[in-house]
Amino acid sequence: MKLTELARTRNDEWSAAGLLRQPGTFSTAQHPVARIDGRDFVLFSSSNYLSLGTHPLVIAAAQEALETFGAGSGGSRLTTGTTDLHVAAEQSFAHFVGSEDAVFFATGYQANLSTIATLGGMCDSLTIFSDSLNHASIIDGCRISRVPLEVFPHGDTVALESLLESRKTEHALVITDGLFSMDGDIAALTELQEVCARHNAWLMVDDAHAIGTLGAHGRGSAEHHGAPLPDILIGTASKALGAEGGFVCCSHDFATLLRNRARSYVFSTATPASAPAAILAALGLVDAQLPRLRQNIAHLRSALGLPDSPSPIIPILVGDETEAVRRSAQLKELGLWVPAIRYPTVKRGEAILRVTVMADHSEEQIDLLVSALQRVSGEQVSN
Ligand SMILES: Cc1ncc(COP(=O)(O)O)c(C=O)c1O
Repeated sequence: MKLTELARTRNDEWSAAGLLRQPGTFSTAQHPVARIDGRDFVLFSSSNYLSLGTHPLVIAAAQEALETFGAGSGGSRLTTGTTDLHVAAEQSFAHFVGSEDAVFFATGYQANLSTIATLGGMCDSLTIFSDSLNHASIIDGCRISRVPLEVFPHGDTVALESLLESRKTEHALVITDGLFSMDGDIAALTELQEVCARHNAWLMVDDAHAIGTLGAHGRGSAEHHGAPLPDILIGTASKALGAEGGFVCCSHDFATLLRNRARSYVFSTATPASAPAAILAALGLVDAQLPRLRQNIAHLRSALGLPDSPSPIIPILVGDETEAVRRSAQLKELGLWVPAIRYPTVKRGEAILRVTVMADHSEEQIDLLVSALQRVSGEQVSN
């Protein structure tokens, strides 16, 4: 069989299952109204929750860094890719969340992947316990670590505890998202910490969506729960901070281990200095932007009759993949950009419309979304 024939067959199967995707092409930034595929839409799918990716002070900081350091970093963090700004961003991020140190990777994906893989390679007698809804970068990190893996049912600390009890290894690493990227629910950090303490397990929390959104000052899961930091906290700059890159917040010693042994830190080109410059500016603006995000989340949740939550991720369950795609297309016709999220991002038959809120949305835009959502689901009922 020719390679293209193989690819075409697989694509046809994917398409028949309602899973084929075509990304929208943006010709503007992630503003509440964005130009996508040549048309203006009210955007309800960006992770630019605090509207910092489009904030003039963040853009100005990145521009200044481009002037000073150029467009690329020229090498990995260990060769030419560490600038003053990379170091300052690591220190500021550690200070922001309250950790001893923070290691900056080019993406959050790399931060998760490399942390798990490095720990797996350095620790004899380890089992990983991973929440069933954890992000793909955690799943992939577990796979490449080759460490024995137990997947516990989503949020089920009782099941986790019994798995920990029957483990055969000396060490255990429990991993959870802090704020789940598709369901928008918040992990029970305090309970998880108690379970880990009882079973002498390390805890790693991926706060990709919680940094800038959870806690009184947007410091993430630990602040939200009034809990101490987990052993390893992953933070990304690619969501609420509006930039790019991933931080591993941890002790100095674990940070040194990663800086020396994590393969994507050692073997992949660092972000250009414009990324840490944007992050430094963004960190200083979280407190100023958070109240407007909170207000918009509260407005949308109450209009949809949903319980209060600080999560800017609001999944609208549809179930059937084709129906989710149909509703998303109808919303597009009404001028709203809300993607249908399907397998493999969520389980088969559990497709959602994933709505995300930004600080810069207006009340009118949110009201428009609410009436459009009611309209597209109403039309389905009458069909
Ligand atoms: C929970 C979670 N962790 C990690 C990542 C990866 O972060 P990045 O996009 O910076 O690679 C994402 C991004 O989609 C995410 O949702």
